[in-house]
Amino acid sequence: MDLLADQFIQFNPQRGTMEGAKVVERRLSDLRGYFVDEAAYEAALAQEDSLVYTVSSVMPAEGESQLHYGLGMIMPGRIGAEYYLTKGHFHAWRPAAELYIGLRGEGVMLLEDEATGESKLVPLIPNSAVYVPGFTAHRTINTGKVPLTYLGVYPAQAGHDYGLIAERNFRKVVLAVDGKPTLRDRVL
Ligand SMILES: [Fe+2]
Repeated sequence: MDLLADQFIQFNPQRGTMEGAKVVERRLSDLRGYFVDEAAYEAALAQEDSLVYTVSSVMPAEGESQLHYGLGMIMPGRIGAEYYLTKGHFHAWRPAAELYIGLRGEGVMLLEDEATGESKLVPLIPNSAVYVPGFTAHRTINTGKVPLTYLGVYPAQAGHDYGLIAERNFRKVVLAVDGKPTLRDRVL
């Protein structure tokens, strides 16, 4: 059954889990510096080191022409006016694109073109796909009231580069303004 195990995996879009996948958990304490409102961040963390998101990754094979994929789940929540988010990254191999498929909940993807700095906000909702081109930083954000779950499929060689975003973050932030997700310049 080894062949089947490599080629067939069941996931639960409600729970955000995937059979046999390696799971990474990110809590508030892992996200210091990522939210624009630092005082709100420290206050929230003092209350509870809440789970913000998990990523379950499947890497069936390595090498050119292979694919890796993952199931992401972001909890609903906010730090100040800013919605719970993933750290966001470029691919280490910059030309690598990625396809995101919404499974549950209501969210957005924040995309930022590395060359032009141009930002885009794209809906991430069930029964829809978001194509993330190469050379583009991407962050996933839960703007809804239930966990946001989605699949991401990417070239096995893509790799993850978190360094640049950790250093300077995205140029834009997504804030709840009158209860609606709104793209704003990052003001520090
Ligand atoms: Fe990615």
